[in-house]
Amino acid sequence: MSEVASVLYGREDIRRRVEDLGRTITGDHEGRAPVLISVLKGGSVFLADLIREIRLPLAVDYMSISRYGDAAESMGRVRIVKDLDEDIGDRNVIVVEDIVDTGLTLSYLLGVLESRNPTSMDVCALLDKSVRRIAPLEIRYRGFDCPDVFVVGYGLDFQERYRNVPDILAVHDLPALQADPDLLLPYLPDPGTGAPTTA
Ligand code: IMP
Ligand code: MG
Repeated sequence: MSEVASVLYGREDIRRRVEDLGRTITGDHEGRAPVLISVLKGGSVFLADLIREIRLPLAVDYMSISRYGDAAESMGRVRIVKDLDEDIGDRNVIVVEDIVDTGLTLSYLLGVLESRNPTSMDVCALLDKSVRRIAPLEIRYRGFDCPDVFVVGYGLDFQERYRNVPDILAVHDLPALQADPDLLLPYLPDPGTGAPTTA
């Protein structure tokens, strides 16, 4: 029987890429205090790891959006459910995304943020499904060029589940997972196997 899913990017690969990205962002933004914006909820795990690899006095802000149907149907138009807390006028902004697929959602969002007149705006995406791109956009900081496969883990969900899987999984049999959403339970973290904590 073929597997429903397999590890596409393991936690060590992810850690190394996040470290590289952090180092690059630190170098590019020397002397600045950028605002890193995460689009909830998928980007939050990546953001949490990324900021701890950036040696700059940065700020973090969050935005939550809801789509009208899928990205193509809505042409990327979204409703802002939770807006940023702070003004981004005259700030250096880095939008942190888990994955850019068609790019429709993100390009719409970038338009909205651009109208608030930041000094600069860059995109940092962990995964770039570049073959699926409809809306062209520049991803200055990219973790991995991701194949055209459904992925879960490290913040990415299947029906709101599995965001806490430490690795990024490629789902090979989506119908099987839809029929039985428990199939990926073996990939959840297993804190029980770590070294015992010392008293
Ligand atoms: P798009 O770039 O406008 O098509 O939409 C990107 C959004 O779709 C991402 O922020 C994710 O929330 C979601 N998404 C796209 N591909 C995947 C995937 O393979 N797994 C989980 N979520 C995905
Ligand atoms: Mg997202």
